[in-house]
Amino acid sequence: MAQAWWQRGVVYQIYPRSFMDSNGDGLGDLRGIASKLDYLKWLGLDALWLSPIFPSPMADFGYDVSNYVDIYPPFGNLDDFDHLLAAVHQRDLKLILDLVPNHTSNHHEWFIESRSSRDNPKRDWYIWRDAQPDGSPPNNWLSYFGGPSWTWDETTGQYYLHSFLAEQPDLNYRNPEVKKAIADSIRFWLKRGVDGFRVDVIDRMIKDEQLRDNPLNPDWVEGRDNPTWKYLRVYSENQPGVHDLIQELRQVFEEFKDRVMIGEIAYSTDPTLITGFYGTDEAPEIHLPFNFALLMLPWQAEAVRSFVDLYEASLPADGWANYVLGNHDQMRIGTRIGLEQARVAAMLILTLRGTPFIYYGEELGLRDVDIPPHLYQDPQGINLGISRDPQRTPMHWDNSPNAGFTTGEPWLPLSPDYPVLNVVSEQADPTSMLMFYHTLLGLRRYTPALHAGSYRSVESPEGTFVYVREHAGKQYLIALNFWNVGRALTLPGRGKVILSTHMDRGDAVAELHLRANEGVVVELIG
Ligand code: GLC
Repeated sequence: MAQAWWQRGVVYQIYPRSFMDSNGDGLGDLRGIASKLDYLKWLGLDALWLSPIFPSPMADFGYDVSNYVDIYPPFGNLDDFDHLLAAVHQRDLKLILDLVPNHTSNHHEWFIESRSSRDNPKRDWYIWRDAQPDGSPPNNWLSYFGGPSWTWDETTGQYYLHSFLAEQPDLNYRNPEVKKAIADSIRFWLKRGVDGFRVDVIDRMIKDEQLRDNPLNPDWVEGRDNPTWKYLRVYSENQPGVHDLIQELRQVFEEFKDRVMIGEIAYSTDPTLITGFYGTDEAPEIHLPFNFALLMLPWQAEAVRSFVDLYEASLPADGWANYVLGNHDQMRIGTRIGLEQARVAAMLILTLRGTPFIYYGEELGLRDVDIPPHLYQDPQGINLGISRDPQRTPMHWDNSPNAGFTTGEPWLPLSPDYPVLNVVSEQADPTSMLMFYHTLLGLRRYTPALHAGSYRSVESPEGTFVYVREHAGKQYLIALNFWNVGRALTLPGRGKVILSTHMDRGDAVAELHLRANEGVVVELIG
């Protein structure tokens, strides 16, 4: 069967605040993104996913939506959006938006109505409960961003539930009107021509009906561990009923042709937790339930190989894999494993079987930027000291002031290495990270075995991960050295190295000598 675009292609995540500022206010915007499409096309991508662009008070930088069917004014307006979408499609790229249905902003008119009185028709759109007799919250659930999941509301004398900030009240998906309102918001964008959505915390949209207390986490240690993990989220995540809800949402996508639904589910290295969200032929769920395992596993060849093998084995027959190396919530890969291994990681996700997700700036080798606590903007940094600002800093376009991102004052400081690590300088250096990504993306695109072929891992020396991708009789072997010492391996035949992470070899070999931190793609010849 022919592959869908979201199976064949590579998705690039843009954090709109930090991509390109067209009007000098220090914030990226839609016109800025539109001005960089030729770069993204040149790089070799297929689809762009924009983190939320909807009106928002920005308590959680757009993950607190106050209107699902409009644009955050500093980013532009609906005309700018239509212009961007047309320009994306003109280049044969796809555009994916970010839907945040679990919660709205407390400034959303639905919540303003809901909190206005106990008998307001939208009261039940959110989760309101009485205090316990001693005045404490209805249960012991904790917000992911610190403190209880419940906030007392004076006006009506009840608590409301919020899995994240108090500014992000959770919607009540046991109410059919809420489902319809969100479905209509999805339709609004899909009708406009949007190619799909990444759906935020989709596995948390339904809560235990009785709102039972979560049990204590036996591994949690006070003072050592993040306070938000004190209780196991047994009753507040992944509840029975969530699959029915996801199936209903999927049907909205099915009203349109060729759209994709990507779902953010809990970060896990247990492949069956991920593959449990594909649904079945009769009751399909998420096209691409996010696989975040590479962000969590120790960076060791054996750990990665055994995960990939297990994940491959647990995918349902027509379930399509995906791999993520970075996003706006996680430390950048170059910071976590170093830039040499970041090339190995790029070769890994761009040669595995499944849709790769690339976070903006990874192609330049951007690393986390040190943001002093007094400049923290992220509520998770302010409340819990675990700031996500370091991975959200502006993109580096050139070596002019502020890396060409803005003519104004950037909303977050830039990395001091931008005069060297930027698009223009790296395009001029044939072995830069950018040229490596560009070459690798081209190789994946024009090699059917790499985007469509089968996968099988091969026994290999410790510290290496070796696998073969095969399509229509053509075989490619990928050999990745996770160690910083050389490793030798014997090929299952003769081969020709067609790309190295070091970008300096193209030799025919029978014995393969991998240098320290080297990955290679080898075309096997008979
Ligand atoms: C998701 C987003 C994260 C956000 C949270 C609450 O995990 O990726 O950025 O803070 O949901 O919406």
